[in-house]
Amino acid sequence: MPKYRNSLNVDPDDKDPLISRRSFLALLGVGTIVVGFGQLLGASFLGFLYPNAMKIPPSSFSLGRPADVLSKEGKVFYPAQKVFIESKAGKVRVQTAVCTHLGCTVNMTDTGYKCPCHGSTYDKYGKNTGGPAPRPLVYFDVFKGAAGDLQVDKNKTTLDPEAAWYSPIV
Ligand code: FES
Repeated sequence: MPKYRNSLNVDPDDKDPLISRRSFLALLGVGTIVVGFGQLLGASFLGFLYPNAMKIPPSSFSLGRPADVLSKEGKVFYPAQKVFIESKAGKVRVQTAVCTHLGCTVNMTDTGYKCPCHGSTYDKYGKNTGGPAPRPLVYFDVFKGAAGDLQVDKNKTTLDPEAAWYSPIV
C-alpha cells in the first residue's frame, strides 16, 4: 500500500537518507524557476538603475573633416546614423533614412526612396508620395564643430531641400 507523499514526492516517514530521483528532479525544477525569477528581477532592477534616457544615442554626430566629406560627390547611406549624406559642389546636406510611418530604414531608388516594410515611397527630396508614410523625410542641420569637423544636429531639422545645404567653405 502506497504511503502518503508530500508535494515534493518525499515520503515523510522514509528513513532512507538518500533523496529519490523524483525528489531530486522536483527540487531541480523549483531551483530553476527560482533562479530564473531572480535573474528576471535582477534585470528589471538594472533597467531601473540605468533608465532608457541613458541609452538614447547623442543627437549630434560628426561627419568627419570637411575636405574628406566634400571629396565624395553624390549621395551615400551612413548606416551608423541611418542618414543619407549628399555632397555636391562644395556643399553637403544630410537627410534621415528613417521612414516616417513606423521607423524602418528606407532604401534609395531611381526616383527617390522606398520603404521595404509597408511600401511607402518618397521622391528624391524625401517628400512622401505613396503608402502609409504620413510625413516627408527631414534634413538635419549641418555645421562646423569646434574641432573643425562637420557636425550634424538631429534636433534641428528642415523640410526645405535648398536650405538644407551647408557649405563649410564660406
Ligand atoms: S515603416 Fe515605412 S512604410 Fe511602414
